[in-house]
Amino acid sequence: MPQQPPSDKLPDDLLLVLRKRPEKSYTTFGLARKLSRPPEDIIQALLRLEEWGYKIHTTRKGEISFRSAPDLLTATEMTYGLKTKLIGRRFFAFGKVTSTNEMAAQLAEAGVYDGTVVTAEEQTHGRGRLGRSWYSPPGAGIYVSIILRPKFRAELAPGISIMTALALSETLNEYMLGKVQVKWPNDVLIEGKKVAGILTELSADGPTINQLIVGVGINVNHRAGDFPADIRDHATSIRRASGRNEQRVLLLQRFLARFEKEYSKYEKDGLARSRTRLKAYSSLLGHDVTLVSGTDTITGHAVDIDREGRLVLRTKEGKASIASGEVTVSSAKPRASD
Ligand code: BTN
Repeated sequence: MPQQPPSDKLPDDLLLVLRKRPEKSYTTFGLARKLSRPPEDIIQALLRLEEWGYKIHTTRKGEISFRSAPDLLTATEMTYGLKTKLIGRRFFAFGKVTSTNEMAAQLAEAGVYDGTVVTAEEQTHGRGRLGRSWYSPPGAGIYVSIILRPKFRAELAPGISIMTALALSETLNEYMLGKVQVKWPNDVLIEGKKVAGILTELSADGPTINQLIVGVGINVNHRAGDFPADIRDHATSIRRASGRNEQRVLLLQRFLARFEKEYSKYEKDGLARSRTRLKAYSSLLGHDVTLVSGTDTITGHAVDIDREGRLVLRTKEGKASIASGEVTVSSAKPRASD
């Protein structure tokens, strides 16, 4: 697989023409005229596209038409058909990076626009929550970071992870109807195994946010044996759960569109308009849980997620609302009263 996406203008322009009307056939001369380039340049550009995995059909008479695109998270593929106004309108696609969150932080420091999206085909040091790593082999998963420059105060930043978990769950639910759950605060599960994770990193001066980087890893086309032994029993992928390969480009486009919708609601009303949907996806509500938050351990019955995205537990001492932590379920069955 190529490690850097195509970036020159002629293949991109040529692609746009071919894709706009895939049913139409062109001659090399016709394309040369249309793009104001010599025919030899067109032939070179077509060869480049084929090298990248584009399928271009040429008849014996030399008529050319578009057949299919490779499933590469390139800026060209991602922005073609992306239905967003802000998120992903600026796009940086890398082959191999240490971590897209790290790249995004550097780009944000350099002043890139709100809504810029960074992807990679592979991460060598994908970062997870709580200092863990995120397994990021080439081509199989989606590794994406969204750079946000919100106007709201820094204390509202943690809710963005929960909002992202909702956008992600609703997207994955289109592929795995009824099987997707959110393990509060922001792990996304299919059939109890982790399929996606979110790592939000904030840079702020007191209450003022400089930038918020929302990093999302989705296991898409991994086979069971692709996962390292230590995570194989707890991790899954869409392919592992459904038996089908999915197009990463389409999945990411759908996710970014949902993310944009949820984000604009969040900017206006916080989680108020997403809470009911969030609760419907929760894997914890109705269960006895143990929650570790810093040095505290709390056990209780998970009864609610409040407007701030906190998990509400009924404990022996009364109700407790917790903003962050690691949860384990201690009872498999919900109580009859819930
Ligand atoms: C977790 O569940 O622990 C969070 C995992 C987040 C992984 C993503 S992959 C894209 C982005 N870049 C990173 O280095 N991490 C996040």
